[in-house]
Amino acid sequence: MAIRNIREMGDDVLTKKCKEVTEMTPRTRELIEDMLETMYEANGVGLAAPQVGILKRIVVIDCTGEDPYVLINPRIVETSGEQTGHEGCLSVPGKSGVVTRPNYVKAVALDVNMKPFELEGTELLARAICHELDHLDGHLYVEKVEGPLVDVSYDDDEEEEE
Ligand code: NI
Repeated sequence: MAIRNIREMGDDVLTKKCKEVTEMTPRTRELIEDMLETMYEANGVGLAAPQVGILKRIVVIDCTGEDPYVLINPRIVETSGEQTGHEGCLSVPGKSGVVTRPNYVKAVALDVNMKPFELEGTELLARAICHELDHLDGHLYVEKVEGPLVDVSYDDDEEEEE
């Protein structure tokens, strides 16, 4: 496993549409392991493959620090409600902004064994699913921010970035 370099806003790779994963290979498994390690090292709650420069439809999410989800070719199939709150992104370091998202999301995806599964989430998990899936289509949360982006203090360990 290895920590990969996180691409930042302004890097073209973050604006591209990612390709579906058609088979699990040792190389893709290694990418997923590296994405998890990179996310944890950066204290993030989610990371999408384009954030490490790979245009594949893969995201990792862990809102609690002990319950990682790997979603391959994910699709949102149901949403309800609404939540408005602060959001950050590892590709937009030191910033945060207010974004409105659904409060409930159901997604379908493939796991690391390319087996389909469903993931339902509310609140932070619902927000993370929406945020990470946007990355796969080349979108950053800053496009959806209501009001200004604000500076986030780096010594706030509690800050969560996706
Ligand atoms: Ni992000």
